[in-house]
Amino acid sequence: MERKVALITGVTGQDGSYLSEFLLGKGYSVHGLIRRSSVDYRERIAHLEGTPNFHLHYADMNDSMSLVKLVGLVQPTEIYNLAAQSHVQVSFDAPEFTADVDAVGVLRILEAVRTNHLEKSCRIYQASTSELYGKVEEVPQNEKTPFHPYSPYAVAKLYGYWIIKEYREAYNMFCCSGILFNHESERRGETFVTRKITLAAARIAQGKQDKLYLGNLSSLRDWGYARDYVECMWLILQHETPEDFVIATGVQHSVREFCYLAFKHVGIELEFQGEGENEKGIDKKTGRVLVEVSPDFYRPTDVVNLWGDPTKAKRELGWNPAKTTFEQLVALMVEHDMKKVAADDAASRVHMNLAEYLEKGVVK
Ligand code: NAP
Ligand code: GDD
Repeated sequence: MERKVALITGVTGQDGSYLSEFLLGKGYSVHGLIRRSSVDYRERIAHLEGTPNFHLHYADMNDSMSLVKLVGLVQPTEIYNLAAQSHVQVSFDAPEFTADVDAVGVLRILEAVRTNHLEKSCRIYQASTSELYGKVEEVPQNEKTPFHPYSPYAVAKLYGYWIIKEYREAYNMFCCSGILFNHESERRGETFVTRKITLAAARIAQGKQDKLYLGNLSSLRDWGYARDYVECMWLILQHETPEDFVIATGVQHSVREFCYLAFKHVGIELEFQGEGENEKGIDKKTGRVLVEVSPDFYRPTDVVNLWGDPTKAKRELGWNPAKTTFEQLVALMVEHDMKKVAADDAASRVHMNLAEYLEKGVVK
């Protein structure tokens, strides 16, 4: 019988958790790399722990030896390299750490595979990103669009993209990049803009937060559902030849639109008035200002026009980019957060603190 053994770095993250569920469902033995943390908080994969085919191992993307040992122990047939410092704003504050994990980390994985002589038997997926297009040179973006990275995060990820391509050509390895556009979910980190908005809408609707502060409301993104996107990671590694693919919905919306729709789902209709730093989202019914702009959330350089063209993935992988619509995505995130905020008093107290920090611009 064919061995199906997957090693996932970044298993505790949004995508790692969905990918684990997906691969377990396909009969894989799934091994996840976790790093030591003082709180050992693994909320997104807690429901999988104890599943017979699901195994966790300590290692770190900054520690080559731990990666070499782990790859040797697991002998994976597929590696999904999802681990990263994935927050663009944070990459301006911690650029060296970001480069170490997001750029050199990719090289360490490739070398761990070579050191264990698995280059002919192990396929590797690299979590590349639409941030590579950065200060975009054409709209929409496809596999041939030139890159113009526009943050320390994107520059680090560009190294990851090229080193994967280099090892594919130099050593004939089956390693590929999925150039994924933004994908969100109920499990999205709370300081990414979509989740920050859905949690705030839920808290404001339940009287637990007064106001939401955001940065650039006009920024445009192609937002998809993370659960749909992990299937593509797997499809890319099942493809006959190792190739890179853009994964996106092909539909673009602004942060302002996301905000409007999220609040509408909790019964608040917002009207946006003013411009730039003076723009406000006002509750049409009560006249209360619920959304304000804070320059604390502006970035030194911001990527403002991401819009993906998934034609190649549709054609060659048979992937359906329209499985979950933008409207469905917003609805499922808001519904989840309405329940979360209502159900968990202790948690919402923590969230209120976080919200206060967010309002002061301490946590981006
Ligand atoms: P995420 O929720 O932030 O998860 C990142 C994962 O990386 C976490 O499991 C984290 O572990 C792990 N990690 C960070 N530093 C590490 C280190 N030094 N050693 C080991 N593990 C480390 O990110 P995501 O949204 O799931 O995204 C997954 C990947 O896709 C990332 O590479 C991201 O850059 C890329 N990507 C994401 C999107 C998107 O829209 N979500 C789009 C394009 C590309 P801890 O839990 O211990 O922090
Ligand atoms: N985080 C955040 N917080 N972003 C805000 C805010 C805010 O208060 N207000 C406006 N924005 C704008 C940002 O300036 C950016 O233009 C856009 O909203 C999206 O920001 P994020 O949700 O933080 O995501 P991102 O696009 O920068 O990065 C995500 O997607 C990339 C793929 O394009 C991350 O998941 C990356 O890891 C991923 O590579």
